[in-house]
Amino acid sequence: MSHISRLNVISGHLKDEQEEEYVDELTSNNVNADAKKETLTVIDNRTGKQYNIKIKNQTISALAFREISEQKGDNGLVVYDPAFQNTAVVTSTITYIDGDKGILRYRGFPIEELAERSSFLEVAYLLINGNLPNKSQLDGWSHKIMTHTFLHENLVGLMKSFRYDAHPMGMLISTVAALGTFYPEANPALAGQDIFKSENVRNKQMFRIIGKLPTIAACAWRHRIGRPYNTPVNHLGYTENFLYMLDKLSEQDYKPNPVLCRALEILFILHADHELNCSTAAMRHISSSNTDPYTAVAGAAGALYGPLHGGANEAVLDMLQQIGTKENVGQFVADVKAKKKKLMGFGHRIYKNYDPRAKIVRRVAYEVFESLGKEPLIEVATELERQALNDEYFVTRKLYPNVDFYSGLIYKAMGFPTDMFPVLFTIPRAVGWLAHWIEHHEDPETKIYRPRQVYKGEWFRNYVPIEGRPPAKVRTQESYSSATTKRYSKVTGSGAQ
Ligand SMILES: CC(C)(COP(=O)(O)OP(=O)(O)OC[C@H]1O[C@@H](n2cnc3c(N)ncnc32)[C@H](O)[C@@H]1OP(=O)(O)O)[C@@H](O)C(=O)NCCC(=O)NCCS
Repeated sequence: MSHISRLNVISGHLKDEQEEEYVDELTSNNVNADAKKETLTVIDNRTGKQYNIKIKNQTISALAFREISEQKGDNGLVVYDPAFQNTAVVTSTITYIDGDKGILRYRGFPIEELAERSSFLEVAYLLINGNLPNKSQLDGWSHKIMTHTFLHENLVGLMKSFRYDAHPMGMLISTVAALGTFYPEANPALAGQDIFKSENVRNKQMFRIIGKLPTIAACAWRHRIGRPYNTPVNHLGYTENFLYMLDKLSEQDYKPNPVLCRALEILFILHADHELNCSTAAMRHISSSNTDPYTAVAGAAGALYGPLHGGANEAVLDMLQQIGTKENVGQFVADVKAKKKKLMGFGHRIYKNYDPRAKIVRRVAYEVFESLGKEPLIEVATELERQALNDEYFVTRKLYPNVDFYSGLIYKAMGFPTDMFPVLFTIPRAVGWLAHWIEHHEDPETKIYRPRQVYKGEWFRNYVPIEGRPPAKVRTQESYSSATTKRYSKVTGSGAQ
């Protein structure tokens, strides 16, 4: 975006905007005069009509296209945008990304400065409240969060009822959803549609979610390794307490490694928000029905879990392990170019340049290796990056390393198994989700989300009684059978596959 258009965006935000018409139908006489500035003129070749669509904040309203109809009453045109590739659904003041230049800012502050100088809870304050806190504000904020870290014993019981090898992300998602059942006063379905108009009510849920997530994550981990869950220690720092809950056994005065606390702090800062990514869009989507934030956070965490989003660093590690050694990188790159494989941790819907977070993560990786020893797969990763950045396939498609390319290596060096990676992403990203949740509740323009579709199905059919129907054309309905069914089929002769 040019400097001038950026200024237009900003001045657009500052204007006291009145509700206005999005589109004028024009006659051929007024098109030139009116269309000169801040409008887009569209000619509908089906009817010969011309429309003047207002450009505001570098956008045109999708609703304007409703006016462009072929015949009266046909509901006009709909904007088709699978996967929201070029559709803005909100006006936000939280995070700014320039994907072409590789810029990321939270509330105007460059991510590089925040990662270097700030703490995670300070960044959380910034994202949620809009400004950096002074000392006493930060102390008060940290105190609030760190005094909302305990879980109700029933919730602990629920976590203990999971199978010994339950995926920690499945445990986290279910537990966060269950958390909502402990706070009926924060559920609009029970306590009233308007409860989130109160800042006090919103703040309380925020403190609970940000405070309890590390506890839930640590319990999920301890469950996996068969160790008793630790209770939080509220006078420790946020990441310090998290590492404590993960690792404390019976040591006296257990203290987590400060290098790892800081590394985790930086990773948490880098992952705290990324505007309308898949999970944040899900958070906004779910919240738009005015559900409680626990259910919305659980849903957003579900979106984050997928390998194309928060599960990508897990997929990166799998990929690096499969490649194995530096010598195999060339063949792997050839396979990617032949579309037989995907280079995980590369490419981004928004960044068409080096992801600024990836640069910081790369540096942090070496700091962690200095403390814990080098992770051997780093050699495969750096060779892969070198070859890809010099290859025409990746250069022409503007595919660069994203934040997940190196973060998995840090987590591996720290001893986390891969299925904990999305959990380590969820803890900080919940802060971004909550910042968007608040913005959603304060935005007078928001409504319940309801995208449109292009219907291409059967137009009209009469119901035919089952005796008179030909076999239905369907996709295969084969599935594999469980071991129990296979053994039982020997008895019944039912021929299970
Ligand atoms: C992130 C991602 C989903 C973005 O996808 P997108 O914006 O829809 O981009 P597209 O799928 O349209 O890709 C454009 C082109 O680049 C190629 N491409 C994109 N990412 C690629 C990757 N990681 N490896 C190989 N080729 C890739 C596509 O095959 C496509 O090539 P084509 O034009 O020959 O068909 C995609 O880059 C990806 O899957 N990356 C790996 C997963 C990952 O690291 N996710 C974490 C994101 S933070």
